[in-house]
Amino acid sequence: MELKEEDIKVLDEIISKYETEQGMLIRILQKSQKHFGYLPLEVQSYISEKLNIPISKVNGVVTFYSLFSEKPRGKYTIGVCLGTACYVKGAQEVLDAIKDELQINVDETTMDGLFTLKATRCIGACGLAPVVTINDEVHGRLTPSDIPSILYKYIKTHKKNDLETMEVK
Ligand code: FES
Repeated sequence: MELKEEDIKVLDEIISKYETEQGMLIRILQKSQKHFGYLPLEVQSYISEKLNIPISKVNGVVTFYSLFSEKPRGKYTIGVCLGTACYVKGAQEVLDAIKDELQINVDETTMDGLFTLKATRCIGACGLAPVVTINDEVHGRLTPSDIPSILYKYIKTHKKNDLETMEVK
């Protein structure tokens, strides 16, 4: 991806707004990902140069936190918690059911750009184990047989939104 003039302008604005704050690298990466949808290497190296932080450090942060992505993500990001409590309660089977249903692996996106599948660490909702997040929504106490209907709900919402957009046009 080549950075356009307007992208550089947005990045400069984000950097100047947050560069003096504590934890500024994460804030800058978050805001940049919100703008671009993901954090391609070109964006990471621009941030690294501007902040005078080695690219290896910027990339280390991006790859450490599951909220960051170096590849474009689908409309819905599914996070399957593989923390201990969830794992013990069958998270792996739930993950396998999602992989089967969507025909993708972890860190991949469906061909229609609708879902990206991630494996996450504990999200602090162990009482609901096993837990799956879809964007900001949390689904708990899941079994593999719950998966098709949950995914279908998002597919249906997406189609409904699409139809509404077409009607507006
Ligand atoms: S281990 Fe999954 S929410 Fe804590």
